[in-house]
Amino acid sequence: MIERARELVKDFEYGKEDVRKATRHFIKQMNEGLQRDGATMGQIPSYVTSVPNGTEKGLYLAVDLGGTNLRICSVHLLGNTKFSIIQSKCAIPSDLMLAKTASDLFAFLAKEIRAFLKANHNDQLKSHMIKVESGHTNQKACSDDFLRLGFTFSFAFEQHALNKGSLLYWTKGFNIPDAIGQDICGLLQTEIDNLHLPVIVAALVNDTVGTLLARSYEAPGTTMTLLGAIFGTGTNGAYVEKMQNLTKLELSDQPPPEEMILNTEWGSFDNALDVLPNTPFDSIVDSESIHPGIQMFEKRISGLYLGEILRQTILDIVPLSTTIVIPKESPLYQQFSIDTSFLSIAAGDTSPALYVTRKELLQTLDIEASHEDARAIRELVLSIGRRAARLAGVAIAGIVIKSGRLLPSPQNSIPNVGDKSSVVSTQQLLSNDRKIPEKLPKNFLERFYQWIQRTFSSCFEPKPTLMQTPSPLKVEAAGIVDIGVDGSLIEHYPDFEKIIRTTLRDIEEIGLEGEKRIRIGIAKDGSGVGAALVARMADLRTGKP
Ligand code: GLC
Repeated sequence: MIERARELVKDFEYGKEDVRKATRHFIKQMNEGLQRDGATMGQIPSYVTSVPNGTEKGLYLAVDLGGTNLRICSVHLLGNTKFSIIQSKCAIPSDLMLAKTASDLFAFLAKEIRAFLKANHNDQLKSHMIKVESGHTNQKACSDDFLRLGFTFSFAFEQHALNKGSLLYWTKGFNIPDAIGQDICGLLQTEIDNLHLPVIVAALVNDTVGTLLARSYEAPGTTMTLLGAIFGTGTNGAYVEKMQNLTKLELSDQPPPEEMILNTEWGSFDNALDVLPNTPFDSIVDSESIHPGIQMFEKRISGLYLGEILRQTILDIVPLSTTIVIPKESPLYQQFSIDTSFLSIAAGDTSPALYVTRKELLQTLDIEASHEDARAIRELVLSIGRRAARLAGVAIAGIVIKSGRLLPSPQNSIPNVGDKSSVVSTQQLLSNDRKIPEKLPKNFLERFYQWIQRTFSSCFEPKPTLMQTPSPLKVEAAGIVDIGVDGSLIEHYPDFEKIIRTTLRDIEEIGLEGEKRIRIGIAKDGSGVGAALVARMADLRTGKP
């Protein structure tokens, strides 16, 4: 059995050349997505054209519909890069992931929002309910007292406005065909209104965009975060792209914004399998999934599928064991019976005779495994996890290289790379009465003054399509490329980031020097805080203080 396991381990190897080739292909498909709709990678415009800088303030609600859990939070942005958060989390019932109508799912969300308000903001809820019952209110009249809600929706949608977006397709374990093409905010608002809750759905964001915004809000010393990435039940990334490269989108805004956050929907990278690895186990996992043929990259990286790949490999090797007896009823024969947490536990197991892994095998699969059996299974776990992390490295490398942020440029040549003393905030610049700090290059100042102009014009003439934060940017010491990440794999799978980093070093355009300049940080509570930040941006656009 161990020999067979080792043969399979070889099939999961993804070497230097593979990674390099995949990164080139990734950049190619990113470019295709910038040029036309319907490309493999969606590169979906978010209409967010600047990132927060930590000064945003206010109390907002956030709802995060992920692939596994529903989280509801109220976020108090404190304006000093800090926030306080109250949150509740529950598993999304699996029958609702495949509900008959969209309203079944969204009614569940509204009920959970009501329960959250009752538990945490009951005074506001009660006083509103009294008004409703006495007929003293209509929604419009009292909408100023309503809580603004940012909705993090972790699926692919086309954004039409800050609070409007139509669902393009379902991924992960969801499939409710009735919802496709419908406005997601509208669906939620209808159910909220049915319960007469004092809540307005003010903004809609993909979880990756939320993660990028949240990281920008709290990232140490910088607001120039490049990428927000999720490695959880699904995988995806959103990054800051130059508008001049986004040729498929024409904006009437004058002056046009310089940059926009794009949701790459990288889960669908290389659906044609030109460069992605493809073992027989990957093929089975794909064909048995509810969305065969799509999300091929996601199916090799993310939490929903890694347990399934492992299950298929275990099914392959166990007949060769001389000791394992698999009960007929073992969950090993059921789809999705192995959770990614099993992979994280087994990969991190340092217990004598792999006691911990064996205990987990007994609990989750009803399999009594010897030390030898557990060793074989753990080797499979490590190879599947390692391949996933190397593929994650491909996506990060693709975005970093494409952004050009590692290339020498006047802007990137500020001295003292990584030296906090060279971090200058525009507030300092302003209070210095426009004294030019010695360390800042001229083109940065030009960009800064252009930005001030844009900010003021957007305060006086709000542009309906774009989201901008009219607050000063801070300037990071040159050279650091900041990345915010979230999700169960990156948080809990041992060495996931370490393997990503080795992969980055394997790619010539990044190498040892480039890898050192890439800073990866968990955006804790990222999607909730991100949603609150977009709701804040929405308020600013409507002139709310
Ligand atoms: C899936 C969704 C995507 C989401 C990702 C992570 O790939 O299509 O929108 O960001 O999962 O949750």
